[in-house]
Amino acid sequence: MERDQQLKSDALKEILKYKDEVESDPYRLHYHVMPPVGLLNDPNGFIQWKGTYHLFYQWMPFKTGHGPKFWGHYTSKDLVHWQEEPIALAPSDWFDKDGCYSGSAIIHQDQMYLFYTGNVKREDGTRESYQCVAISKDGVHFEKKGPVITLPNGYTPHFRDPKVWQGKDELWYMVIGAQKENLEGDAVLYQSHDLENWEFLGSIMDKDLSLGYMWECPDYFELNGKGILLFSPQGLKASGFNYQNVYQSGYVIGDMNEQNKLQVQKGFCELDRGFEFYAPQTMLDEQSRRILIGWMGVPDQDEDKQPTIDHKWVHSMTLPRQLTWKEDKLYQTPVKELETLRSKMVNHSDLELDVNEQFSFELENSASEIEAKINSEGTSLLEINIRDNVRIIFNSNQKLFTLERKSYVDGLVERRQCILDHLSHLQIFLDTSSIEVFVNKGEEVFTARFFPYKGKDVRIRSIGEKKIQMEVTCWTIKRDR
Ligand code: FRU
Repeated sequence: MERDQQLKSDALKEILKYKDEVESDPYRLHYHVMPPVGLLNDPNGFIQWKGTYHLFYQWMPFKTGHGPKFWGHYTSKDLVHWQEEPIALAPSDWFDKDGCYSGSAIIHQDQMYLFYTGNVKREDGTRESYQCVAISKDGVHFEKKGPVITLPNGYTPHFRDPKVWQGKDELWYMVIGAQKENLEGDAVLYQSHDLENWEFLGSIMDKDLSLGYMWECPDYFELNGKGILLFSPQGLKASGFNYQNVYQSGYVIGDMNEQNKLQVQKGFCELDRGFEFYAPQTMLDEQSRRILIGWMGVPDQDEDKQPTIDHKWVHSMTLPRQLTWKEDKLYQTPVKELETLRSKMVNHSDLELDVNEQFSFELENSASEIEAKINSEGTSLLEINIRDNVRIIFNSNQKLFTLERKSYVDGLVERRQCILDHLSHLQIFLDTSSIEVFVNKGEEVFTARFFPYKGKDVRIRSIGEKKIQMEVTCWTIKRDR
């Protein structure tokens, strides 16, 4: 107890010590969840309880690198304005001394339960993983109850990130990210009547997918009668336009059979095509929406070179997105509540861009939302240049969509791409140092951090053989606090 209080109080001191430095960063985001100081990674324990959304996060308060993680905590009434809450978990016990790693939340008998992984490093460099529980009556103060699951046979200690839900049969289920002894990634399932005693059901998959050496942060849910398993596999090699980041996040779709095995119908598909996206977690809210938040970062991907480190903080969450199932694919759209952030609007209707013609406008604020409705016939090449740093390009001939940015490491142009049949709609969320592009109302999403020096220009050009008709609307986004 004493150690717990000591760690939490040291972390709070760190927030106070660097508050001015953090807040004075011009790249501090205006409407995204960020750490008050230090490093933020995965979203954890995302849930709505009595009308309030709770979002916990992996947090290292003492440096802008990884280490023994805490669970920080934000709440919100509307998924837009977030309030900082007391620290939920600190790595203070023998079973979590090297990190209260990722996990999830459920509500049972008017209490909130957090399930998380206790990470323990041994002196010889190996590790132990315990799936632990902490309980709260008010959703703010948590009492740790210790481990409920230890390592099963056949798996290495890379065994973490429990996601718990209640099945239609009223039983509790937990899926955990794992590595098999043959060093292949997997996700395993447990079942419980009382949240205390958990029965091991083995792999959640009915057959091996052979996808990488470790699956982190699994999440299972059903949408339109389909079973969907999200996870973040490590160890996939880049292949064509796919798997370009150091690690990926995506999903497989199938049917959960009576033996609790997912019979996969559609193989692994990446959730986001941009540069920074990892470890997403979903929740079902009181309006029965399946909402996803991801970490706008990727482990080991030049994290230590992000410019915000000079101001003692690094990383943020993505905007919350609603998931729907359409045309054999998961669609992701920004939650409608984000419209409440819109303030001054400028609308350019009936834009006709002749070949090589350019239309430009100045953003009033670096936090802005841009919507473009696009109507083009035949071969067209559309280019949108934002703040002299990011370029969005659609080549209808090649059916290729591209997001380019100037690397924050060396300034060189780097790109992420995907095949796209046609382009009719773009919704772009810009913050001081981030961009989230929703393509064709959520058919694809590109998320990235970018660090523009100055300039608020947006330049739109048609560089193909045909003119392009567009309607462009731009809103200034109000700061959320
Ligand atoms: C994913 C991850 C999880 C782990 C956590 C530790 O980014 O590696 O597997 O629980 O981060 O912070």
